[in-house]
Amino acid sequence: MTLIFAHRGYSSLYPENTMLAFREAEKVGSDGIELDVQLTKDGEVVVIHDEKVNRTTNGTGFVKDLSYQEIRKLDAGYSNKMLVKKEPIPSLIEVFDWMKTNDMICNIELKNGIFPYEGIEEKVLSLIREYELSDRVIISSFNHYSIIHFYLLAPDIEIAPLFAEGIYMPWVYTQSIRAKGYHSNYLAINEEIIQSSIENGIAVRPYTVNKEEVMRSLFSINCTAIITDDPVKAQRIKKEYRK
Ligand code: G3P
Ligand code: CA
Repeated sequence: MTLIFAHRGYSSLYPENTMLAFREAEKVGSDGIELDVQLTKDGEVVVIHDEKVNRTTNGTGFVKDLSYQEIRKLDAGYSNKMLVKKEPIPSLIEVFDWMKTNDMICNIELKNGIFPYEGIEEKVLSLIREYELSDRVIISSFNHYSIIHFYLLAPDIEIAPLFAEGIYMPWVYTQSIRAKGYHSNYLAINEEIIQSSIENGIAVRPYTVNKEEVMRSLFSINCTAIITDDPVKAQRIKKEYRK
C-alpha cells in the first residue's frame, strides 16, 4: 500500500517546515513527513528549505550566517494571516522530540547542494542515534556524495538519492550506491520505470505529487510512497484504491 509523506509537513495548508505543519500532517493520518535541514552559523541543525530565510520568514540573510538564537527569533508563519502565534524555524531536535510521541517516518533531506555544511551528516546521525530513530528515518539529498558519506557512517540507516531529472534505469544507479530506494521528481519517471524499480527491490517515492491524476496513477500501481503537500487530498484518493 502506497504510503503518504507530507512534504515539508502539511504545507498546502500550514507554513512549510514548521512544527505546526508536522503536527497537522500527523493529525490527518500521514505515514511520514519530509523536511529539509541546514546548519546555522553555530552548527545547529535547523529545518528550513531555502539557503536564505527571506522567503519563508520575516528575516533576511543566509541560514549559515545566522546563529541559532537569531534564527529562533524569526517567524516562519508570518505570511499566514490566520496564524496568531509565531511559528519558529524548528531545530531537528525539536522534530525528534515530537517523533518520540508517534510512529511516523521522517524523510530528512540534507540541503547541502549549494553550501556543503561540513559535518552535517555526522550531526544528523548523532541525533538519530541519540533519539533511537534509526529505523524511522530516510536520508535523502540531491548531493549524492553526501548520502554516500552518510551511508558509510551508518550503513543500517536508509538513504535515498533525489533525482530532479530522468536518468536511465534509476534502480541500477540506486543499487550501485547501496540505497534501497530513490525519490524522483514525478515528471522524470513513469509507471514502467516505477514498476521495474519495485520489481528490482528498489522503493520509489516521487515528489511533489499534488495533482489528483498523478496520485491516481501512482496509487493504481502501488508505488512505494508519494511525497505531497496535501496529505488530505492524497488520503481521499488513496481510499478509492483500497481493495
Ligand atoms: O524530497 C523531495 C523534495 O523535497 C525535493 O525538492 O526542493 O522540495 O526540497 P525540494
Ligand atoms: Ca525537500
